[in-house]
Amino acid sequence: MIAFGRPSTDPSVKERVFSGIQPTGELHIGNYFGAVINYIRLQEEYECIYSIVDYHAITVDHDPKLLPAKVLAMAADLLACGLDPDKAILFVQSHVPEHTELAWIFNCLTSFGDLTRMTQFKEKAKQQEFVSAGLFDYPVLQAADILLYRASKVPVGEDQLQHLELARRIARRFNSRFGEFFPEVEPILSEAPRVMSPAEPTMKMSKSLGEKHYIGVMEPEASIYEKVKTAVTDVGPRGPEMSPGVANLFLILKLSADSRLYDELEEEYRTGKLKYVRLKEAVFESLMGVLRPIQARRRELERDLGGVKQVLEAGAARAREIAQENMREIRRLIGVGLESFNPGR
Ligand code: TRP
Repeated sequence: MIAFGRPSTDPSVKERVFSGIQPTGELHIGNYFGAVINYIRLQEEYECIYSIVDYHAITVDHDPKLLPAKVLAMAADLLACGLDPDKAILFVQSHVPEHTELAWIFNCLTSFGDLTRMTQFKEKAKQQEFVSAGLFDYPVLQAADILLYRASKVPVGEDQLQHLELARRIARRFNSRFGEFFPEVEPILSEAPRVMSPAEPTMKMSKSLGEKHYIGVMEPEASIYEKVKTAVTDVGPRGPEMSPGVANLFLILKLSADSRLYDELEEEYRTGKLKYVRLKEAVFESLMGVLRPIQARRRELERDLGGVKQVLEAGAARAREIAQENMREIRRLIGVGLESFNPGR
């Protein structure tokens, strides 16, 4: 059950959307259909702020030589997918230092016990040789990301709900101790079910599983063709339930094809006439129909990375303006900062 919060009663707080995305270096179609499509839709309706969260990326081992290029590539990918800097703010988390400042304040309002219960931390900690305090503290920085802008709507996947619940607790604790300032944070869950790995369709599509477990949004056609062609299906007699691999192909088809084609193939499946070669051809063609225009825009942006950097700079300037104003008020409420000595100045 998701507990939806009451809307903020302060009329001066506009409904604002915030989301963060890790600079993984490359978007895959699971990210695209699960998160990015939502980002693009929401920018029409809300004031949206999207951040590439490099301070989250350094909570685990990272290569400082590669990180800037990964951040830039993620920005270019998002723009190629249709994120419009005239409608939404796109910026890099570390370009707005107030994120870490607020995270420290929130650290002091977060119980150690709550953090030890975070399932994502437990999962990630198992994969690390060195478990940093930053990894433990990751959800607090995430709460700061959202609340620094007093955002109330956060498009995320199911796996982030526990982090959002923590952000709500932190906000409530702040509000009751220091005065109402932060809104109630609510998730906007993606309607798209999870896209699975083509090679191991019982596992969620992910870059960290390895090359054959994801389809990159910017991947060359020949390589996408190969991954779709060799996607795991089934051999045995068909039951009424689709096997995970076949269900995954149908899911990708549903997300990228028009519904007539989808219905047609599903009918063929149900009546036992469908050949998987035909399903795979249809998946490949429909998917490329979605990806080709994105890839074309991405190639243009690759020739103009200076332009992408400018978008990020302008985005950081706009984000910083909101962040600085809110931070001034937050410092005043808790009685820290130079201005607390000179109230009214
Ligand atoms: N933890 C999120 C993820 O892994 C990324 C993230 C960081 C985020 N800060 C955020 C998401 C703020 C939403 C809001 O997907």
